[in-house]
Amino acid sequence: MGNGVDVPHDCRAGQCGTCKVKVVSGMTIGGECGEAGVVKACQARVITDLQAVVEPVPEVLTTRGTVVSTRRLAPDVTEVVIRPHDEIVYLPGQYYRVQFRGYPGRYFSPTSPMQQPSGGGTLRLHVRRIAGGLVSPAIGDRIRRGHPVTLNGPFGSAYLRLGLRNRLVLVGSGTGFAPILAIADAAMAENPWRDVVVIAAAKTMPSLYMAPAFRRLRDYPNVRLIATVSEKPARAAPAVRVGRPTDHMPELTPGDIVYACGAPQMVDAVQDLALAAGASFYADPFTPQHGGPNDDGIVARAITWLSAIAPVPGWIGGEPIRMLPKPQTPPEEPQHRREDRPQQDYAPPRQQAPRDALPFA
Ligand SMILES: Cc1cc2nc3c(=O)[nH]c(=O)nc-3n(C[C@H](O)[C@H](O)[C@H](O)COP(=O)(O)OP(=O)(O)OC[C@H]3O[C@@H](n4cnc5c(N)ncnc54)[C@H](O)[C@@H]3O)c2cc1C
Ligand code: FES
Repeated sequence: MGNGVDVPHDCRAGQCGTCKVKVVSGMTIGGECGEAGVVKACQARVITDLQAVVEPVPEVLTTRGTVVSTRRLAPDVTEVVIRPHDEIVYLPGQYYRVQFRGYPGRYFSPTSPMQQPSGGGTLRLHVRRIAGGLVSPAIGDRIRRGHPVTLNGPFGSAYLRLGLRNRLVLVGSGTGFAPILAIADAAMAENPWRDVVVIAAAKTMPSLYMAPAFRRLRDYPNVRLIATVSEKPARAAPAVRVGRPTDHMPELTPGDIVYACGAPQMVDAVQDLALAAGASFYADPFTPQHGGPNDDGIVARAITWLSAIAPVPGWIGGEPIRMLPKPQTPPEEPQHRREDRPQQDYAPPRQQAPRDALPFA
């Protein structure tokens, strides 16, 4: 990037992973991120001629929108639905900088509706209330229906890669469940027979707001659902495990693709397990942006970096992500590229819920 090559980027601080590139030939120093042959371009110094592959991602744009609803999902979690004034295109797992008028911008990760996998042209967020925070406590209070919003993005590299059959292990703590649900829904839309383990973690039972989404995800035959709380509840809930998410991770293998979203410490702990097993790992740590009236920290810098543009692949084609393919039969052949596959209506295969997939609410 320092050499003037246009690489999609955001924080320029080695945190977000938006600038990851695969080195095909040549040498770099620094920017290693635990994935073989992949470096963070903003942190890497190029020391020889270099060939690198940049994954195509949607263009970073600024769009205005309006809050259409807010709804309390748990005592500390509010869902906010935003209708963008223009169509927005992002990959499941990416995030936006969201600026509610009159407040500093904050990063949030779009998700699907709890009851169904697609949101009809709206951007849906789960926001955890941070005591003393400048933005999150206002959501559902001073920020409600009709509030103007500016959206900037999408950013991030922890998005679902299509066309793979590897097991997905998706770990979200708190509102880290938002991008995890987006990824799980998109993965099921592409291949409803894919092996997926979803781990949703919260501190306490009331904060475990994911039950409605678990109820529909358990309809997929190869999705395994695990809910954890770190504080032992007064009344034991049979479907909920006590401990950290890493206490309840399945044994990982090199073929697994692991995503971790939410509290940075949890993301680090999952990363250690994934890298030790040789699994692929993508992270979306919810790093605080340290709000202050005139201080957006790394967020403010993101506005300046709107030039982060890479060619958008044909399969994105300006359509919202709810247009992902929905095959009806398990793929027998190696998966084709999305544009080669027929578009079909899809009804998820129903089956008996596994024991640990029982709703926990
Ligand atoms: C890539 C990315 C994606 C994100 N996606 C989401 C999302 O989908 N949903 C969501 O709820 N949040 C998400 N976040 C976090 C979000 O951007 C804000 O940081 C959070 O909402 C707090 O903002 P605030 O203005 O209320 O608090 P601030 O005014 O920024 O902070 C107030 C104080 O609380 C501390 N603080 C901030 N956040 C936390 C925290 N999580 N835990 C403990 N202390 C904290 C700050 O250091 C500060 O001292 C994401 C963050 C990143 C980097
Ligand atoms: S990690 Fe390089 S731009 Fe964020």
